[in-house]
Amino acid sequence: MTGVDPAADPQALQVRPMQPGDVDRVMEIERAIYPFPWTPGNFTDSLRAGYDAWLFTLGDAPAGYAVLTWMPDEVHLLNISVAAGLQGHGLGRRMLAWLCADVRRRGALAMLLEVRPSNAVARALYASVGFVQIGARKGYYPDAGGRREDALVLLLRFDAIGAAS
Ligand SMILES: CC(C)(COP(=O)(O)OP(=O)(O)OC[C@H]1O[C@@H](n2cnc3c(N)ncnc32)[C@H](O)[C@@H]1OP(=O)(O)O)[C@@H](O)C(=O)NCCC(=O)NCCS
Repeated sequence: MTGVDPAADPQALQVRPMQPGDVDRVMEIERAIYPFPWTPGNFTDSLRAGYDAWLFTLGDAPAGYAVLTWMPDEVHLLNISVAAGLQGHGLGRRMLAWLCADVRRRGALAMLLEVRPSNAVARALYASVGFVQIGARKGYYPDAGGRREDALVLLLRFDAIGAAS
């Protein structure tokens, strides 16, 4: 539990760079929301490699986080997550809008990501902001029972959406 009111005004969402000292609290969220979570090493390696890593907070409590890498004028969204008790209250949409605005301001032409076909919530969010499927990666994700699930590869071209988006 985050101890944060899920109905808190999404406008109160703050963002700051993730620090190595945040990884334990990030991992609490990560383990609670993914059947196959990132490891602490995935986060610390991302920080060490200089990836964009953002912690979103409501008050003092972490509400969500995101990790992105540049390649070089597109960004790859590697992780976007909202704490379990806070999902479905508009935070993910606000986080994604902030991330898009930030990378556009810094010169990105597009954002790429992978998503599980079974992740209906994330797919609905991405479709609603204009991501389109450009491919699939066979057996990309581990699945229950030792099987693999394909990834859908989605792209958002910033020149294909309005300047206000
Ligand atoms: C995916 C995730 C980041 C979305 O963040 P969120 O705060 O829960 O989503 P929001 O409340 O901002 O809603 C955004 C959209 O998602 C969809 N959505 C949200 N909750 C939903 C639900 N329960 N059922 C169906 N669609 C839902 C809707 O399209 C919604 O848009 P709307 O509010 O205009 O209808 C978040 O749910 C999460 O962290 N999930 C677990 C980790 C994950 O799957 N990350 C993405 C991996 S690719």
